[in-house]
Amino acid sequence: MKRALGVCYYPEHWPEAIWAEDAARMVETGISWVRIGEFAWSRLEPSFGDLQFDWLDRAIGVLGSAGLKVILGTPTATPPRWMLDRHPDMLAWDAEGRPRGFGSRRHYDFSYDGYREECARIVDILARRYGANPHIAAWQTDNEYDCHDTALSYSPAAERAFQNWLAETYGTIDALNAAWGNVFWSMEYDHFEQIELPNLTVTEPNPSHVMAFRRFSSDMVVKFNKVQVGLIRAQTDAPIIHNYMGRVTAFDHYDVGADLDIASWDSYPIGFLSDRLEEAPEHKQHYLRQGDPDFQAFHHDLYRAVGKGRWWVMEQQPGPVNWAPYNPAPLPGMARLWAWEAFAHGAETVTYFRWRQAPFAQEQMHAGLLRPDSEAAPGLAEAAQVAQELEDAPDVSVTQAPVALVFDYASQWAWETQPQGADFDYFRLCFEMYRGLRKLGLSIDVLPPDCANLSGYKIVLAPGLLQLSDALREALATFDGQAVLGPRTNTKTAELTIPTSMGPGIAGLDATIAFTESVPPSELIPLTRGGVLVKWFEHLEGDAEVVESVVDGRPAMVRADRVHYLAGWPDETALDRILRDLCEVAGLVTLSPPDGLRLRDTGAHRFYINYNPHEVEFDGLLIGAADVTWRPL
Ligand code: GAL
Repeated sequence: MKRALGVCYYPEHWPEAIWAEDAARMVETGISWVRIGEFAWSRLEPSFGDLQFDWLDRAIGVLGSAGLKVILGTPTATPPRWMLDRHPDMLAWDAEGRPRGFGSRRHYDFSYDGYREECARIVDILARRYGANPHIAAWQTDNEYDCHDTALSYSPAAERAFQNWLAETYGTIDALNAAWGNVFWSMEYDHFEQIELPNLTVTEPNPSHVMAFRRFSSDMVVKFNKVQVGLIRAQTDAPIIHNYMGRVTAFDHYDVGADLDIASWDSYPIGFLSDRLEEAPEHKQHYLRQGDPDFQAFHHDLYRAVGKGRWWVMEQQPGPVNWAPYNPAPLPGMARLWAWEAFAHGAETVTYFRWRQAPFAQEQMHAGLLRPDSEAAPGLAEAAQVAQELEDAPDVSVTQAPVALVFDYASQWAWETQPQGADFDYFRLCFEMYRGLRKLGLSIDVLPPDCANLSGYKIVLAPGLLQLSDALREALATFDGQAVLGPRTNTKTAELTIPTSMGPGIAGLDATIAFTESVPPSELIPLTRGGVLVKWFEHLEGDAEVVESVVDGRPAMVRADRVHYLAGWPDETALDRILRDLCEVAGLVTLSPPDGLRLRDTGAHRFYINYNPHEVEFDGLLIGAADVTWRPL
């Protein structure tokens, strides 16, 4: 497949007189896709029913006739001001019970029927008008679901929808009371209409109540997206895409992805390192202008899974952003490196955000490929270089990785609801394991929790997985590689209660969690073979073979044949040893690339991606600061 570059463009921000020149310059840069329209509702329909599509017809015509393929976004992330007058109850409410007002974006509640219907109306009009347009080669639904924490809402509309969802899910109020254990603290309900949202309670609400609310909230996002997809699909065969984000876990992306053709995500490496990752100050300083060396790759692999193999970067950071606490400029080379890293992980298209920096409004300090005065910003030349390199691109076809990591959204909600230790975070646990594997030079596939086929993998990790699905349980039964489950895997019911069998309930493994303790960062639990457990330790009973133990002799990791259960959160040293041992048993060659150098194997090439601000040497190659190179395997 031919890999391509794209750019995000807002014709409504610029005089029509410069559209053609912009389009020609995009083509000259080597860009072939352009995404438009996703925030343009106030110009498409300045007042209810007053449809103004002529300008969009012309914009699509100008871009398309320049040779660009257009991705048309539905404008539903930015309802215009008049919408609020029509639907005063459409706003989402925060957990403190305050409506989230107009004046930025994403001011809507996923469960408010009136707004979903307005979205269906405008999407239907767009789909009918442009479904057969030869220049529209892909569609994007909305923009970044849950961006600015918008998937959870505590509005009256959400409460009504939640009650309906509960009635459908549980059938009878007695079933709900039993499932949640509402006998505790006399929380039993007589009917569904009594059930409020789990905010503003005196002390913590019942975790089962919160978990149900999290599942409901995710389902509302899925439903919202599905309506748009259905209407677009009725008019076109062009692929339908959504642009997800980094470390956003409030809805089940696999569920949303099931209705879409391609997954995409918006990659802002420097912003993410600064405001989305818990790392030591030295790490943040070292990677200040490059971004974390694993964060992008983790999401590339995750969204490849969400997209069932097909994925893009829909927005790629080109220069300083505006929204992190500090917004340094990328090192020269990074706008190229990020794109190549994405291609090495199988991205079909990498689209830079945005063409020209806007001189007005919230993002006026956010770089584009062009400056506000239309002069080239530093990202432009790097994009042009990538485009040039793509001409004789290496084979970046994806091949199955030797190692897989299961990632699950419900597990994130579960442990957020019931962390038990202040720093127990599911994403973090998975990310540390992912990083540990990458430090050994390995390429990784992410798998959904209902994955039924593990064949071909030498190692599968499923840390912190709330429940083992039947599919995964069966796949593990015949798996001939090494599996590591835990900590916390399969230790609760779907309702977030303790199963009477106790956890972890793994077939053939004689191990039961007698009790669990969480400990603060000051308390380390040393392991016999070196390294420590941090944050979390489950005390196991049973006769399973012990492969790791704490210094007082209690088991830290046990196994039955190829399936291991890890009873705590290993620090970097312990994790590195555990992973190296597993690789050895599994017959997987591990490497020790220098810090900050990451490897990624495609079907035919090995990519060397240097996130360091200095040159490194490895495998007989000199790889410059912020540089990426590749050679045949
Ligand atoms: C993304 C968003 C874009 C723009 C960008 C700025 O989250 O989709 O519209 O706001 O961030 O970095």
